[in-house]
Amino acid sequence: MNSTSTLLACETTGLTAAYGDEPVLRDVNFRVPPGVVMGIVGPNGAGKTTLLMALIGLMPLLSGSVSFFGQTHQQARRRVGYMPQQRSVDWDFPTTVFDAVMMGTYGSLGWFKRPSSLERDRTWRALAEVEMTDLADRQIGELSGGQRQRTFLARALVEEPDVYLMDEPFQGVDAASEKAIVTVMHALRERGKTIIIVHHDLTTVRAYCDWVTLLRVGIVAAGPVDEAFTEENLHAAYGRSNTFVGAGFVE
Ligand SMILES: Nc1ncnc2c1ncn2[C@@H]1O[C@H](COP(=O)(O)OP(=O)(O)OP(=O)(O)O)[C@@H](O)[C@H]1O
Ligand SMILES: [Mg+2]
Repeated sequence: MNSTSTLLACETTGLTAAYGDEPVLRDVNFRVPPGVVMGIVGPNGAGKTTLLMALIGLMPLLSGSVSFFGQTHQQARRRVGYMPQQRSVDWDFPTTVFDAVMMGTYGSLGWFKRPSSLERDRTWRALAEVEMTDLADRQIGELSGGQRQRTFLARALVEEPDVYLMDEPFQGVDAASEKAIVTVMHALRERGKTIIIVHHDLTTVRAYCDWVTLLRVGIVAAGPVDEAFTEENLHAAYGRSNTFVGAGFVE
């Protein structure tokens, strides 16, 4: 491994993955420098969720490799946090917001150790950061979409990772929740953290993200937003028939 790649927060080389015979990710070389917000955009079924799952070992690879700061995910797992797509989670699981968030500290607790006041303090701090203190005792099954995403984010915060993987963090949230999540994301970036988000709203890519990867089974384009987020590349990712002016895309 060369010295450049060890500096990358996340890198894949020739990543290929399939559910059946047909690859849903083909030869993906994904590179994310540290301290940026990287947006992954692409049409439904492009493989965005699968890519995040492949990064953290939830999706087996047919070929290729994944690294975080030059280490395997297994070696770097404490440094990587994952916020799944909301609809993929069992929200009927009987637990309170506080406990769901505090579970995020278990990685640093080790087996069979009970959370101490330190972990409880970290949990309260994370809940405050996402403005969910008042709902700490609520069952997670009784939350609105935006409150669910804030709970997810608080849980990712208590893990204190260096890289955050977030699958559609703004799905089903109102403008206030979206703003709160973006504020936390940008505060994390100021602290040198790396945030990788799957994002659907092309109109906010420029405001939210520094870097962007356009995905459609393979990588269509990637780089700083100013270079990669062009109309030409968007057409290549989404198809020519889609008009991005209509979707709010402004060059
Ligand atoms: N469990 C599964 N079994 C078989 N095929 C799957 C499975 N999950 C996803 N796929 C297929 O893999 C492809 C990529 O799916 P993926 O969920 O990664 O797309 P996505 O880019 O996240 O889409 P969306 O924008 O709708 O969330 C799709 O064609 C999808 O139908
Ligand atoms: Mg998805």
